[in-house]
Amino acid sequence: MSENKVKIAIVGVGNLSSALVQSIEYYRHNSADDLMHPRIGGFDISDIEVVAAYDIDERKVGKDLAEAIFAKPNNKHKVIDVPTTGVIVEKAPVLDGVSSYSAAEVIISDATEVNMIESIKKSGAELMVINVPSGSDELVTHCANVALEAEVGVINSTPAPLVRNTELVRKFKDKRLPMFGDDLQSQTGGTVFHKGLLEVLNEQGVKLIDTYSLDVSGGLEGLNTLDYERRSKKRGSKEESLKRTLPYDVNIASGTTDYLDFLGSTRLGHWWIYGKGFMGHNIKIDIRMETDDGSSGAASLVDIIRAGKMALGRGVSGPVFSVCSHGFKIPPEYHSRLDSLKGFKEFITAKRDA
Ligand SMILES: NC(=O)c1ccc[n+]([C@@H]2O[C@H](COP(=O)([O-])OP(=O)(O)OC[C@H]3O[C@@H](n4cnc5c(N)ncnc54)[C@H](O)[C@@H]3O)[C@@H](O)[C@H]2O)c1
Repeated sequence: MSENKVKIAIVGVGNLSSALVQSIEYYRHNSADDLMHPRIGGFDISDIEVVAAYDIDERKVGKDLAEAIFAKPNNKHKVIDVPTTGVIVEKAPVLDGVSSYSAAEVIISDATEVNMIESIKKSGAELMVINVPSGSDELVTHCANVALEAEVGVINSTPAPLVRNTELVRKFKDKRLPMFGDDLQSQTGGTVFHKGLLEVLNEQGVKLIDTYSLDVSGGLEGLNTLDYERRSKKRGSKEESLKRTLPYDVNIASGTTDYLDFLGSTRLGHWWIYGKGFMGHNIKIDIRMETDDGSSGAASLVDIIRAGKMALGRGVSGPVFSVCSHGFKIPPEYHSRLDSLKGFKEFITAKRDA
């Protein structure tokens, strides 16, 4: 295991990976002191090193990662120039990575598929980060099996079941490798914000009745989730996460409702909450929030990656509960938002093992 770096392989060089790679370069030149976790396990964000990258789009495959992150259809804006990395994006198998809605935007490369197991082994990666489109369940299972063969830990940003797949969990435990998932919870994303609002209202005794968080976005993932089947998986993930926040059932809807390419990686979210307060009076909340999707996701990912390195060092195998509860929408164990944050802090300060 590399001592001073956190070596990762990324599968899917889209907007989230673009923000991740840019953030590593950004914090090489800018202070991270204002962040919640400037250092984790002795590692700065700039200690994360991408040593292998995989995609299927001809505008990315065969290109240096520094160039590929800005190639179309990515539209996460450029925060910083990334110098040539020496990491050439290699062709992954397509499997179910392209939805009928996003097919027109993706140009599948005719390059030969790389042997991902050999490539990852050769790269020295310790963790695989899966940033492929949501709804790619077959592809995510394939990546997890590649990670097992290459003997690296795995982080699943997508809603596909990884830590909820009992067969995969058993295999990762057998190989003594850590896993993290499912469905990344962004730093300022709709789900964590919505959970916080619902938790406060519930704690204050408000009887919640109906609520939604609906958004429009301009990233390829927004277009991808217009595909009904994929949308139901992403929505299912968000709605399940919100349902687990409350001790009783309410009407919940959460997800992306439209794609507007001119928004780029901006996500515009709308929250509505309706409940009953003292003597049955109405409480109605209507909020709008604008975030940068990729940056918000990368902010969580850089913490999970460094916690992943700690899990490897401690020999934790299978789902790492404290990290999953804090960093993902559908963790294997559910805890309140604040308990999850506490658990994460305990894990990274070695007050708990997993
Ligand atoms: N804030 C966030 O960015 C955020 C938050 C939570 C979850 N996620 C999840 O992270 C994932 C990535 O999000 P994104 O916005 O970067 O999406 P994106 O559509 O911008 O990027 C996906 C990338 O995967 C590539 N891809 C498709 N099929 C592939 C295959 N077979 N092998 C390798 N690469 C393949 C695409 O070409 C594209 O480059 C999604 O599943 C999303 O739900 C993101």
